[in-house]
Amino acid sequence: MKVLVTGGTGFIGSHTCCELLDADYDVVVIDNFSNSKSDVIDKIKKITGKDFKFYEGDVCDKSLLNKIFSENKIDAVIHFAGYKAVGESVAKPLMYYRNNIDSTLSLLETMNEFGCKKIAFSSSATVYGKPKSLPIKEDFSLSTTNPYGSTKLMIEDILRDLYVSDNDWSIAILRYFNPIGAHKSGLIGENPNDIPNNLMPYIVKVATGELECLSVFGNDYDTPDGTGVRDYIHVVDLAKGHIKAIEHILNSRGVDAYNLGTGHGYSVLDLVKTFMDVNGVNVKYKITDRRPGDIDACYADPSKARDILGWEARLGIEDMCRDAYNFVKNVKED
Ligand code: UFG
Repeated sequence: MKVLVTGGTGFIGSHTCCELLDADYDVVVIDNFSNSKSDVIDKIKKITGKDFKFYEGDVCDKSLLNKIFSENKIDAVIHFAGYKAVGESVAKPLMYYRNNIDSTLSLLETMNEFGCKKIAFSSSATVYGKPKSLPIKEDFSLSTTNPYGSTKLMIEDILRDLYVSDNDWSIAILRYFNPIGAHKSGLIGENPNDIPNNLMPYIVKVATGELECLSVFGNDYDTPDGTGVRDYIHVVDLAKGHIKAIEHILNSRGVDAYNLGTGHGYSVLDLVKTFMDVNGVNVKYKITDRRPGDIDACYADPSKARDILGWEARLGIEDMCRDAYNFVKNVKED
């Protein structure tokens, strides 16, 4: 079976390519390196000992998509490519809508033309907005608070409309909670060049001395220790969820959304303290004001993915903290 992975050199995409290759899928990747580095390609090959085809370019480029589908008989697509920074999306909404929606429309049109109607889409728990209760189930109402989230929800709507128009489609919408961690080899992981927006990359940069002090955004939330609670999931577990989703859509028709989370919530301080314990390093932090737009707590009910896809997260926050640090130490030694 041949799977096209858009954004296959990114954080989640690269780990998913490894899992696909390990499971003996043929893999074809398209990426423009807008938020990744080209050396990831060789690292995926090194980890898996397997080769795959790579096309450098933009998913908005229909002529390139046409070439890829003409040169390869694609059975299914995993669509990761897209901009993903919440703050940047507020500052540059047109760039976000243009890129994320345009690329998806180009991809879906091309898939339709080539009769490839199986896709797993990278969505996000951001589509739940401020959830009415916890844990979050897939049938909760959907709303968004920033352009990035709106692009995810719009694409979900496009996919649902597409299925209504043509019941031959098989579509898995995968709603990620908070992916962190890295591959155990230490070769691939998350290492943003800019000052990170997300918690784990920031913790790591404080631990390595690149940044001085972590700001903990608020300790007056309605949570056990007052700091924000999230459902952190190891990126390798998340990647394995995509393999289960591909197996499912290859053998079914329909459109369905699945939460990919662990079902456990950890606070900012839980994560900071576990990181320090597991890695034996200090992470200096201070409590600051809340970050606008943040919610108290967010964690999944992952039972639908367990019952229908046969997938469950297995790794804990100790693994996530250890692997995230191991990766960045490795990068610095390179
Ligand atoms: N936090 C800090 N200090 C930081 C960064 C984050 O205290 O420097 C806190 C936040 O306030 C929050 C928690 O750490 O309580 C997690 O924050 P992240 O930025 O790591 O993650 P979010 O839950 O805000 O965002 C993530 C994804 C988004 C997605 C969103 C909702 O990064 O893409 O979940 O699903 F939209």
